[in-house]
Amino acid sequence: MSDAQKRALETHWPRYGLELADLADVPRIFGRTAPCTLEIGFGMGDSLLEMALATPETDFIGVEVHRPGIGHLLLGAARAGLTNLRVIDRDVIEVLGALPGGAIERLQIFFPDPWPKKKHHKRRLISNSFLDLALPCLVSGGRLHIATDWVQYAAEIQALVAADDRLVSCEPPWRPETKYERRGVKLGHEVFDIACRTR
Ligand SMILES: C[S@@+](CC[C@H](N)C(=O)[O-])C[C@H]1O[C@@H](n2cnc3c(N)ncnc32)[C@H](O)[C@@H]1O
Repeated sequence: MSDAQKRALETHWPRYGLELADLADVPRIFGRTAPCTLEIGFGMGDSLLEMALATPETDFIGVEVHRPGIGHLLLGAARAGLTNLRVIDRDVIEVLGALPGGAIERLQIFFPDPWPKKKHHKRRLISNSFLDLALPCLVSGGRLHIATDWVQYAAEIQALVAADDRLVSCEPPWRPETKYERRGVKLGHEVFDIACRTR
């Protein structure tokens, strides 16, 4: 972690950091009732920062366990004086378990760890049990948006979503390019955006 990221964590965590208990009341976190987007695994957070800046009418909660990435995002958020962004440094399974039903308007996961080796596929985040935990957190008609540059993972996610009666596929909303995406594109990978709405 760079010194600036470390300093940002110390200085800006009180303003931007959340504890699991805070998730029980999302409007209270932001002091208003507005659509809330939850991003899982924001990495260094540049694309989440860009979205939060571009859509001040939406609130954003970023979930990440990588401390340098959290420090980097806090630095950017504080510099921009953002009021519609918060961060939680917990495993996503705990976060989804702590959110009340219907708290989130959009759930986005951009370039989840692909775990390319077959013996590691069971570590992939997106699965039926993940959907069982995540979908109740969405409002009715809420969106799930997943992007990946791993063709087989994309096919797996598309099949999961298509087989789930709770979901209807939709056009992927706008999103900025992410750091992992740039790396994948440089390697010649195709990028897949998969989006759906809850019924
Ligand atoms: C491949 S990176 C993608 C980062 C970013 N979305 C991008 O596209 O540049 C996946 C990120 O998910 C985070 N992550 C993985 N498992 C997680 C979990 N269980 N809870 C929270 N974050 C997780 C990792 O720390 C990592 O930063």
